[in-house]
Amino acid sequence: MARTALLNVMVNTVRKVARSLVRDFGEVENLQISRKGPKDFVTSADLRVEAKLIEFLQEARPGYGIISEEAGETIGTDKTHRWIIDPIDGTTNFMHANPHFCISLALERDGVIHAGVIYNPITDELFEAELNRGAFLNDIKLHMSGRVNLADTLISTGQAELFIDPNSYYRRLAKAHTRSHGVRITGSAALDLANLAAGRSDCFWDNGIKIWDIAAGTLMITEAGGVLSDLDGGEFDINSGRIAATNTNLMPTFIEMLKIS
Ligand code: IPD
Repeated sequence: MARTALLNVMVNTVRKVARSLVRDFGEVENLQISRKGPKDFVTSADLRVEAKLIEFLQEARPGYGIISEEAGETIGTDKTHRWIIDPIDGTTNFMHANPHFCISLALERDGVIHAGVIYNPITDELFEAELNRGAFLNDIKLHMSGRVNLADTLISTGQAELFIDPNSYYRRLAKAHTRSHGVRITGSAALDLANLAAGRSDCFWDNGIKIWDIAAGTLMITEAGGVLSDLDGGEFDINSGRIAATNTNLMPTFIEMLKIS
């Protein structure tokens, strides 16, 4: 596939920074067996990755704004563009030497997510998408699953809602488990959305999720033919923390299932 200059910048930046992340992961594997564990090391690895991403992106596109999980927001001189960065999505997995984590990078243009890259450097799976140009996994075009019955689906979710409304979280979880093939809580919302776009699951929801966790992933979904919604079926707002993602056939029954009153 031919990449645009923008995606080239994003993919090259993420791949370059990921090299040191792989070395850090090796170190975590060593520290994992110590009694104290690798928590402090992981925090500094997260910050190092973030600093490098920001440095390379500012070099490539000076003036763009940035919002990033650890560093917060920097307003750019170019008000139309903003990078949205999660240096390690799946930090808890990373900390436990579990290889399910990724770098997630998105570009917002005029308030719309325009491009996204999600890269797991351990599996070497690189997901990328650009508005109206499709979503790809290691150069293969992605398509959402075509399932039509909720009973045949695999669903994924996170844990954010547990900390804001545990009652709703457990009710939704119980319903999702019993009305589908099962629920997976993988610890990386970015990879959940990327894998959903790749047809490896059928539905995803979360409540209380941050923009850097989902920005790139939401574009993977729409570019793979999927749809996004608020949890009550209303319009999706990326800043609301509320997201339901699936294919067009399943969305009505999925929203019905997510209702808790
Ligand atoms: C977390 C992951 C996880 C979700 C959490 C997020 P982080 O992001 O995306 O799947 O359940 O709400 O905070 O902290 O690993 O970047």
